[in-house]
Amino acid sequence: MKIGPMSPEWLRVASVVLLSVLLPATISPAEALASGNKNFQFFAPPAEGTLPDGPLGRLIRKGELIFIHTNLYAKKYVGNDLTCESCHLDRGIKPYSAPLWGAFGTYPRYREKNHKVNTLEERIQGCFRFSLNGTPPPVDSETMKAIIAYAYWVSRGAPIGLYLKGQGIVRLPKPDRTPSIRRGKVLFEARCALCHGLDGQGTQADLGQVAFPPVWGPHSYNKGAGFSNVRELAGFLRMNMPLSKGKSLSDQQAWDVAAYVDSHTRPQDPRKSSPATGQ
Ligand code: HEC
Ligand code: HEC
Repeated sequence: MKIGPMSPEWLRVASVVLLSVLLPATISPAEALASGNKNFQFFAPPAEGTLPDGPLGRLIRKGELIFIHTNLYAKKYVGNDLTCESCHLDRGIKPYSAPLWGAFGTYPRYREKNHKVNTLEERIQGCFRFSLNGTPPPVDSETMKAIIAYAYWVSRGAPIGLYLKGQGIVRLPKPDRTPSIRRGKVLFEARCALCHGLDGQGTQADLGQVAFPPVWGPHSYNKGAGFSNVRELAGFLRMNMPLSKGKSLSDQQAWDVAAYVDSHTRPQDPRKSSPATGQ
């Protein structure tokens, strides 16, 4: 078959060539997802306090309250002194503290941790079980519905299926020097103890609400939590701690202070059926 000028084949070839010249190189969502591109785009979540009227607005507001005061509004599912906001800062919208808008459009997702595709609900159940050392609320519970409604609301307008800039926790490069608990202790006492206490136990405020959360010990996250991985914790600290002075630690300092925090006792990983070792 001849491909003459103006034949359908010719037009098709010409339009493809023309389009590839005219359009800037773009990454399709599937490609971005496959390549794990984490610098794809920034996202600005909607302003605080803008809620729809009616039942949906009330559910979103409930989810926000659960997120910020988990131990008041979802008490029966929480087993320690932390709230969702203890780690997902600024009511879950701060970049690099695993913001909700970075998660909402990237589930369902396969996770090595439990060897299956997780829905967003299942991912959140994981945080209840490990990070809050508690009992996961059922998928169809009011608590879970409210959290999902809130996550949806702060993700309004974000693309589906893309890893956005600022999503998740920064993955730090391997440190130059082996992380040192000794150097970490010096740093912790100088830069962290003011709020979290020399003993790492934080400070209680009125009504049992925690002003500064404990970073180790029986009321902190357990050994199955993401932060029990030193690299994950170091990535969080690098970008977020000391509070409001994120990015002031160097990579090495973040590794060192993470190693120090991690060297203390905390509740056992609930997946381990063996009794607590007491360490
Ligand atoms: C002790 C810290 C901590 C607490 C408390 C915590 N989380 Fe997480 N959460 C994490 C870490 C760490 C990750 C993994 C982030 C990553 O690397 O993608 C995570 C992941 C998530 C994700 C998926 C994020 C993503 O980008 O894939 C969601 C959603 C989430 N948490 C919701 C919650 C909710 C809701 C609560 C409260 C019920 C909560 N978390 C409590 C530390 C915590
Ligand atoms: C000015 C007070 C302040 C300082 C200084 C500070 N933090 Fe925090 N930190 C907080 C607060 C408050 C939260 C919880 C955020 C929230 O609830 O909004 C937090 C959360 C955390 C968390 C996650 C929750 C938990 O309890 O495990 C870790 C880990 C942490 N800080 C470690 C550190 C380390 C390490 C340093 C020193 C490098 C440090 N912080 C310095 C106030 C502080």
